[in-house]
Amino acid sequence: MRRRIVAGNWKMNKDHREGARLAQELLDGLEGGDPVCEVVLFPPYTALPAVTEILAGSAVRVGAQDLYFEERGAYTGEISATMLSALGVSFALAGHSERRHVFGENDETVARKLRAALGAGLEPILCVGELLEEREAGNASRVVETQVRTSLEGLSADEFSRVVVAYEPVWAIGTGRTATPDDAAQIHTVIRGILGSIFDAEASSLTPILYGGSVKPSNARELLDAENVDGLLVGGASLEAESFLSIIFPA
Ligand code: PGA
Repeated sequence: MRRRIVAGNWKMNKDHREGARLAQELLDGLEGGDPVCEVVLFPPYTALPAVTEILAGSAVRVGAQDLYFEERGAYTGEISATMLSALGVSFALAGHSERRHVFGENDETVARKLRAALGAGLEPILCVGELLEEREAGNASRVVETQVRTSLEGLSADEFSRVVVAYEPVWAIGTGRTATPDDAAQIHTVIRGILGSIFDAEASSLTPILYGGSVKPSNARELLDAENVDGLLVGGASLEAESFLSIIFPA
């Protein structure tokens, strides 16, 4: 059976004290509940130690928002996958749209980061998604296909089994403009087909594909019910325990 995952990407929000508080509030809110999904938090680097410590022993796991693909050396300002795994981090985002569009990462960089994450035993969440002009030009599927193929082609079946994909249309991130469940289902189904053609149908059918972009408590249920949507990557609405819990336990 395919895993279901709800992830909270805090982006550049919450210092280590605020992050620890939010992690504790979430733990308290999850107590006694029985989420049907795995829950993963992506705090900023400086909050990773505190959040990881609070969540140790719980089912909630922690991920990094980014990493650098080299293991060590003269790369001022960067953090490697092995440093993250030494901290007890289990996941890493690769190719979030803000990394691609604010910091200029290309598909090749994303592919190297994804491989570095796998090499350190992390589960990478490969983020893909088209710009508004690409969608309006009718190129959404083609853009996503290139992103998926460049990052994943050449992985072994074992490596691929640890990859999660997140479809995040850039025009829906932080804009309040959500893809409809049909928009999401359409691209998720395209992605599943591409994964099947790179690997095989069974491996593809086991890969969780998350949707992200202006997810909130009011639209979480319908997005989770859409075909081939196996979970959510939540930005703004993961910054308060109450709203994130309402997404984990959608009405
Ligand atoms: P948003 O961000 O939910 O604030 O749109 C999603 C993301 O960037 O992962």
